[in-house]
Amino acid sequence: MANEIKTIGVLTSGGDAPGMNAAIRAVVRRALAAGKKVKGIQRGYAGLLQEEIIDMNKRSVSDIIQRGGTILQTARCKEFTTAEGQARGAEICRKHGIDGVVVIGGDGSFRGAQKLAANGINTIGVPGTIDLDISCTDYTIGFDTAVNTAMEAIDKVRDTSTSHERCSIIEVMGRGAGYIALWCGIANGAEDVLLPEKYDYDEQRLVNNIIENRKIGKQHHIIINAEGIGHSTSMARRIEAATGVETRATILGHMQRGGSPTARDRMMASVMGAYAVDCLCAGKSNRVVALKKNQMVDFDIDEALAMEKGVNDYEFDICTTLAR
Ligand code: ADP
Ligand code: F6P
Repeated sequence: MANEIKTIGVLTSGGDAPGMNAAIRAVVRRALAAGKKVKGIQRGYAGLLQEEIIDMNKRSVSDIIQRGGTILQTARCKEFTTAEGQARGAEICRKHGIDGVVVIGGDGSFRGAQKLAANGINTIGVPGTIDLDISCTDYTIGFDTAVNTAMEAIDKVRDTSTSHERCSIIEVMGRGAGYIALWCGIANGAEDVLLPEKYDYDEQRLVNNIIENRKIGKQHHIIINAEGIGHSTSMARRIEAATGVETRATILGHMQRGGSPTARDRMMASVMGAYAVDCLCAGKSNRVVALKKNQMVDFDIDEALAMEKGVNDYEFDICTTLAR
């Protein structure tokens, strides 16, 4: 092969997600098994520009499959959004002999990978974000752990909410996407679920639901509010004033990003990480790894970034029906 990859770099970028370590481990061990050298780029694109680059061997990734976070650290890096930063990043890769890079992160990180590829470094993106908001893939590393963490936390809030006969507004992460909120809506049996993709900002409807539910004997009222809507604390004040029902807001926040990855996240991260290496070894570049209909596939990053996906209408309908 004319442009055979000899050294693969791996980095994590954007928000961390449980399972990123399992993906790093898979990249390192699959690449070594294919006879490649592997270098870890620390702190995402920021670390690349600072040349924070370390050699990795089989033992560098021992004892990490079960750990949350990312051993390579992650960062957000403004400089890498500039043409100069991107050209310098590619030059630093060449200086360290890195001819292929696996970028584990979300859409923003893939835009960076696209630019590295345009500057002559073969790149493959691996979807790692708790938000599940990458359009080309049915799964993103970290979602399962995050949604289970949120679900368990919401169960706990529900216990105290029921005891006090309160309304609880619980805000979950997801940036502009409502997947964590929708899954918790169904899994926690929430009375109302506010998704950025669906919510019409009709607070009177929420007030009416609470009053109706009190009449039919419900002792709590759980509203799951997606981060993309936000303002849970002020919403709680307004709802309490309008219903006379004590209302509390809980913002789950970054706890949703931590913790030991579930079996699904470890499994998907291992397969996706290994598949990314296989793509590089096959001479591919500017691609993003994806799960589609339970099969591993890869898409051109430009096409992947142009795709759109919304929450599943059927699942949202079920969520609404089961809450009544
Ligand atoms: P995520 O990858 O989780 O979506 P961000 O959107 O914060 O996270 O992106 C992570 C990093 O990717 C940014 O800090 C920046 O360094 C890089 N990045 C984002 N957008 C671009 C872009 N248009 N061009 C080059 N790099 C980008
Ligand atoms: O993308 C993952 C995510 O946790 C989003 O759900 C959230 O909007 C964002 O990252 C928070 O980022 P930060 O780490 O900057 O608080």
